[in-house]
Amino acid sequence: MIKRTFNLLLIVGLLSCKQDNVLTNSFNPGKLWLDTNGEHINAHGGGFLIYNNTYYWFGEHKITGKEGNRAMVGVGVYSSKDLYNWKNEGIALEVSNDSNSKLIKGCTLERPKVIYNKKTKKFVMWFHHELKGQGYDAALTGVAISDNITGPYNYIDSFRIHPGVLPLNFSQDDFDNASIIESRKDENWKEKVIKGGFLKRDFKGGQMSRDMTLFVDDDQTAYHITASEQNQTLLISKLSDDYQSLSNEYVRVFPGQRNEAPAIFKKEGTYFMVSSGLTGWKPNPGKLAVANNIMGDWEFLGNPCRGTDEENKTTFWSQSTYVIPVLGKKDAFIFAADRWRPENPIDGRYVWLPIKFENNIPYLEWENSWDLTIFND
Ligand code: GAL
Repeated sequence: MIKRTFNLLLIVGLLSCKQDNVLTNSFNPGKLWLDTNGEHINAHGGGFLIYNNTYYWFGEHKITGKEGNRAMVGVGVYSSKDLYNWKNEGIALEVSNDSNSKLIKGCTLERPKVIYNKKTKKFVMWFHHELKGQGYDAALTGVAISDNITGPYNYIDSFRIHPGVLPLNFSQDDFDNASIIESRKDENWKEKVIKGGFLKRDFKGGQMSRDMTLFVDDDQTAYHITASEQNQTLLISKLSDDYQSLSNEYVRVFPGQRNEAPAIFKKEGTYFMVSSGLTGWKPNPGKLAVANNIMGDWEFLGNPCRGTDEENKTTFWSQSTYVIPVLGKKDAFIFAADRWRPENPIDGRYVWLPIKFENNIPYLEWENSWDLTIFND
């Protein structure tokens, strides 16, 4: 009996010890973030989906060493009820071993995002896809679908976007007047970009699509937002009703203004977009924009960071990936970003900060450690 009680105490002790190790009730930006197995969360360039009162975190599964910058495994998925503690749900989309597949192991698969289509009851994943061995030249967007949120997702295809289709805010006259940009040495390069020089160059074969995100509006219309035209211009496109392809409706946003890492959220009917500039894995000043209509005119509001010069110049040493609405709290949003480690990508860190508002304009401040009670104020 004594022995049995002792064993029981030992088991309980071990269990609580393990839990002490991994359970957390705060966000600690930039620190290692252990999942419920005690391993650093491996879901970089993440996208989030709330389904059945649970948060799901999809992201790039990285491996150690420089090789980890390419897709050697696929898209990882984690689940959480409270946003602090995340359970590894495995690999949602696996890269392929078939050399005929565009999704072959060693390609580049970045910034996966998943949305749920209420009509078809399918989960639809979109991601930035670059073909193996071609650097960032292919500039494709990829799609995969699943009946289960955690997968496995079936890869459909990857493609350039809107071949032969003009943006809604770019007329046939604009197109006729644009001059194709052959090289960066072109005179008045920037002016030509703004006037559609890359758009015209890529018109037939389809527009480039690199850093991307998705946004589902209150009426269930979904949008694909992507860095196009050599990362010089964002394109916002309406998705088809089943979310599995792009409709022909799209607009150019901030032509020539070099936005990457877009993330959109909506507060009281107003759309906000955070994004970054263009410095690869190195951080740069964050950007904020606002619009009353997601496909309408976007207005640039500057850098949302309020910190030291160094923090503002680097967005707290991070690059945006998603804005997470917090369940059960009104107007509570989390800025989720990556602190990349390209030398050893698996060790990349996550920087999550509460989005604060002043006169309805979002801003960010550094917090060493914080929790959701910050939204109670
Ligand atoms: C960043 C981009 C990342 C990744 C990286 C590669 O600017 O946001 O997703 O593509 O460049 O250098």
